[in-house]
Amino acid sequence: MKALVLAGGSGVRLRPFTHSTPKQLIPLANKPVLEHVITHVRELGVTEICLLTGDWADAISAAMGDGSRFGVNLTYLRQDRPLGLAHAVQTARPFLGDDDFLMYLGDNILADADGTVAGIVGEFRERRPAAGLVVQKVADPRAYGVAEVDTSGSVLQLVEKPTQPRTDLAVVGLYYFTAAIHGATDAITPSARGELEITDAVQWLISRGDEVVARQYSGFWQDVGRADDVLQCNRWLLGELRTDVRGEIDPASELRGQVVIEPGARVVRSCIEGPVIIGTGTLVEDSRVGPGTSIGRDCVVRSTHLSDSVVLQGAHICTPRGLRNSLVGRFATIGLGEEGDPSYRLVIGDHARIQMTVL
Ligand code: TTP
Repeated sequence: MKALVLAGGSGVRLRPFTHSTPKQLIPLANKPVLEHVITHVRELGVTEICLLTGDWADAISAAMGDGSRFGVNLTYLRQDRPLGLAHAVQTARPFLGDDDFLMYLGDNILADADGTVAGIVGEFRERRPAAGLVVQKVADPRAYGVAEVDTSGSVLQLVEKPTQPRTDLAVVGLYYFTAAIHGATDAITPSARGELEITDAVQWLISRGDEVVARQYSGFWQDVGRADDVLQCNRWLLGELRTDVRGEIDPASELRGQVVIEPGARVVRSCIEGPVIIGTGTLVEDSRVGPGTSIGRDCVVRSTHLSDSVVLQGAHICTPRGLRNSLVGRFATIGLGEEGDPSYRLVIGDHARIQMTVL
């Protein structure tokens, strides 16, 4: 079996970060989203993986390489425009051939510590339905592909982003397909939003009488579509870290809970409350960091209280009032203003978002 990981798309909802980096390379617990995805695919027993990229092809191949670091073999293909998930399958046909495959959305995080997803995929591989879906109950299904499923787990109907969902079962970003899907992606036409929808392709299989099954998964699942999603995924993945302190901690500092301090990081007169990861070359001084916080490499965090946040490589932060639920981009600077000047001074990029509390 092969795997197709989708890492194209536009990432509009994650601007301004996606002006300079694809969302699939945003770090969660200091590792790119795609590294978490590829590692999970390997844990599912698949090592022949195609990474389908869009405009960010060069950045993604530079970051992920040939896959040997993760124990997999990566092949790269390019989708000229993000014309939909079924179009992505068509584009990857030269790699897929007629083999069964998993399709994994490259911005989805599935925590599978107890092996539930692995069990579901194992069942699909053995049974070989035309399509196997993983579904999850969600509070508001209107933003998802929604499945209607009978008591035996056969899918009766699948609808993309319905205004009046018939069930609360959302389709998770991991699919199993046999080669039957190719006939379906060739048969369908673009949806109202101009995309070839994978839900339409799967519905085409159902209408033709092919077997399409769904299995429920109730563990952690989140796509990194928006900034808040990044923070939520980061918090979850940090919770799975084991303490590993290789940087320097001075005697005036205190570490509590699960904390990873990478080699070359320094913590001075600070309190770190896990789960937290602090990257190589970063200095944390006179600060409180955590919980739920990742700081990338080569940052400086001084006189700051930082919690539930993600700070990317090279950022400098000095703000005694502190930051919470924040996402700070690469080489961004947050510092103190002129003494005696009550105004804020901002130099911020396109589509940035700032929330200030009025005192
Ligand atoms: P989406 O989150 O549905 O789309 P997007 O990445 O364009 O984001 P936004 O809505 O914020 O603009 O995509 C899910 C995953 O599939 C993501 O990893 C991008 C990938 N994808 C492709 O590779 N090709 C495509 O044609 C589409 C639509 C998505």
